[in-house]
Amino acid sequence: MDRARGACVLVICIGLAGWGGGLSAQTGLPLSTPTKLVPGRGVPYFPTPDEVVAEMLRMARVGGDDVIYDLGSGDGRIVISAARIGARGIGVELDPQLVKDSNENARRAGVADRVQFLQQDLFELDLSPATVVTLYLLPGLNEELRPKLLGLRPGTRIVSHDFDMGDWEPERVLRVQGWNRKHALYYWVIPANAAGTWRGRLGGSDSTLTFRQEFQKVSGTVLVNGQNFPLAGVRLVGDRLNFTLMQDSRPETAMQFAGHIDGDTIKGSVNIRGGPSAGAQDWLVRRDTQNTP
Ligand SMILES: C[S@@+](CC[C@H](N)C(=O)[O-])C[C@H]1O[C@@H](n2cnc3c(N)ncnc32)[C@H](O)[C@@H]1O
Repeated sequence: MDRARGACVLVICIGLAGWGGGLSAQTGLPLSTPTKLVPGRGVPYFPTPDEVVAEMLRMARVGGDDVIYDLGSGDGRIVISAARIGARGIGVELDPQLVKDSNENARRAGVADRVQFLQQDLFELDLSPATVVTLYLLPGLNEELRPKLLGLRPGTRIVSHDFDMGDWEPERVLRVQGWNRKHALYYWVIPANAAGTWRGRLGGSDSTLTFRQEFQKVSGTVLVNGQNFPLAGVRLVGDRLNFTLMQDSRPETAMQFAGHIDGDTIKGSVNIRGGPSAGAQDWLVRRDTQNTP
């Protein structure tokens, strides 16, 4: 663990003395909320400051169509702030008093009809309706949660306050200045499963695409007319897959593919810059499930 991360763990574990004063602009709560240890997995209650909540919601581009889940929701501030911008939200929290406070805070904020607070272990909650998941837990818990998060619908956005997910690299990291320290925010998008062998017609030729994948990082090759070519610029964000195929070194022969992965099908359009087939064409490949582990 590096020093900054170690310091954050220490800060969250022992709590901070003198947590400001006055009322939260987002929730109307007193800013000096006491830190306490909750039975369970040893994550203390420690609220995310308002300005950091606002950045977390901005980072995930939370809007009116979203369903946000805050895992370990404390006094409900993240879910309530999201509801104020039109989202619906679920908070899950072990501490019954915090659940009670959250309901009261939601009522006062006028968003009680768009939020729900559940008193239960976050590991036992079905997260499948979520479009956004927020976390302010601890590194070990984040890693324990990884398989559950990676099983969510491709495109689901995840924002974690202060702690990353080990070797699952984030798409973005943001440092936000709080009143007494910098807060790190980590952002991921749940990737679709691109790994394996896919067959179909690409740019007018029967082709075989092969992708290797580690989290959202994908590399690949295409076999076309008996020749193998590496794919350039492969980028997977949620279910959106983009890559470029260059069959020689001339940029004018580059084919730019954009597609959506839907289970065992990828379809999209390819833009062919030069040559006899120049222009835009549709493409579709299907996963060879026999040869995919
Ligand atoms: C650091 S606080 C974050 C509170 C809130 N998300 C925020 O950012 O202001 C972590 C919260 O997670 C809760 N918690 C810890 N383990 C939990 C579990 N297994 N299930 C549900 N809540 C849990 C704690 O009670 C605590 O309120």
